[in-house]
Amino acid sequence: MSKRHLTFICQNCGAAYNRWQGKCEACGEWNTLTEEGAERPAGPGRKPTKGRRFALEDLAGGSEDAPRLPTGMSELDRVTGGGFVRGSVLLLGGDPGIGKSTLLIQTAAALAKRGQRAVYISGEEAVAQVRLRAERLGLRAAAVELAAETAVEDIIATLSEGATPRLIVIDSIQTMWTDLVEAAPGTVTQVRGSAQALIRFAKRSGATVILVGHVTKDGQIAGPRVVEHMVDAVLSFEGEGSQQFRILRAVKNRFGPTDEIGVFEMTGAGLREVTNPSALFLSERDLGQPGTAVFAGIEGTRPLLVEIQALVAPTSLGTPRRAVVGWDPSRLSMVLAVLEAHCGVKLGGHDVYLNVAGGLRIQEPAADLAAAAALVSSLARAPLPADAVYFGEVSLSGAVRPVAQTPARLKEAAKLGFTRAVVPEAGRADVGEGSLKLTDVGNLASLVADIAFLGNRNGKSRGQDG
Ligand code: TYD
Ligand code: MG
Repeated sequence: MSKRHLTFICQNCGAAYNRWQGKCEACGEWNTLTEEGAERPAGPGRKPTKGRRFALEDLAGGSEDAPRLPTGMSELDRVTGGGFVRGSVLLLGGDPGIGKSTLLIQTAAALAKRGQRAVYISGEEAVAQVRLRAERLGLRAAAVELAAETAVEDIIATLSEGATPRLIVIDSIQTMWTDLVEAAPGTVTQVRGSAQALIRFAKRSGATVILVGHVTKDGQIAGPRVVEHMVDAVLSFEGEGSQQFRILRAVKNRFGPTDEIGVFEMTGAGLREVTNPSALFLSERDLGQPGTAVFAGIEGTRPLLVEIQALVAPTSLGTPRRAVVGWDPSRLSMVLAVLEAHCGVKLGGHDVYLNVAGGLRIQEPAADLAAAAALVSSLARAPLPADAVYFGEVSLSGAVRPVAQTPARLKEAAKLGFTRAVVPEAGRADVGEGSLKLTDVGNLASLVADIAFLGNRNGKSRGQDG
């Protein structure tokens, strides 16, 4: 029997095979299998493990120290659920150049300023490069400990000495390698092995470990989807390359919410927290233009106003285009279908583009009404009132359904100077009278009629002027 155990591992999902094959049966991806040395099996060469006795503990038992450590960066703390939990491991994913390293060196510095031991291990950049960045960020004086290392055993041996670091940043997990597995760095087996070793260290020592993970072009954290299952929280750092805004989102969180977002702005001196994102997302509005509607949304516990932009234009193609950025394409299709079927809006000969301003990605169905308003406004060339916000879910029957947290949405809109809200009729009763003038819509057709009326009036006045 050969001593070396070779396996073929899918680089997408981590499934293992004895023979090479073109398609991974576990995840259905093609050409993702590569040959890797398997994790070393227990055998005669290895010390037999006898099993160590351990003490069982009470669920109610006390833990030393505060279990959570806030960083003082409120946008980050909001996403993690109030700070880093002792012994927890987080995976931070994001496109290259989005600002992961910047965010984490700032986080490490923030903790160091609070007197906590923070260590930043870079497997990608030399210490001098990390220093250069810190200098640019004005963090030169922060007591962050740095190293450029990739050997997991060396890292663990070093960090096991002295006071346990409160935070350890590993930038990135794909560059790490452990002696325990025979595979090249960056392969699934190595990434998994390294992550396992670091997770064990975190649990044993109580340090919080943040692993940076690269993201492939289709948005997956490269290779190791397996790592996502192993860690306590998966955070993703997103943004449009051309925009300054960066959104931090928890995809998975064992110790906190997954619907909160943190908003940052990338400036010449690093990431700045944006504590009032509505003001920022609305700062560059094109007032008086058709095709834009302000959506009063909720992200987690925080109301967030954002502009939805639509462009509906006659198509020159056989099949009209539908393109959407920041929203679910299938919801766009649904809203378009409802507009066609119930509101007499014919879009078959038009290209449709929809964009959520500021690089935000909206997941709430409550955005349906605002999206529909923007689409109809563009088609009818009728600018919507600049002082109005929209929210409501559209059902397949064309009815506009109430959504949660209406008072919070209205309050945020009033705070930002809006005076009108177009809201679902059905939910109106529980809203009460606020400072906003409410227009309720029962179904999408009446909204379309209102906007078409605006368009006609504008058209007439344009006609009279000209
Ligand atoms: P970086 O943190 O290196 O991204 P990642 O680790 O996710 O690959 O960020 C790199 C980008 O951020 C780079 O394009 C330059 C920009 N940047 C700023 O605009 N201001 C700054 O202060 C810093 C440090 C970076
Ligand atoms: Mg980086």
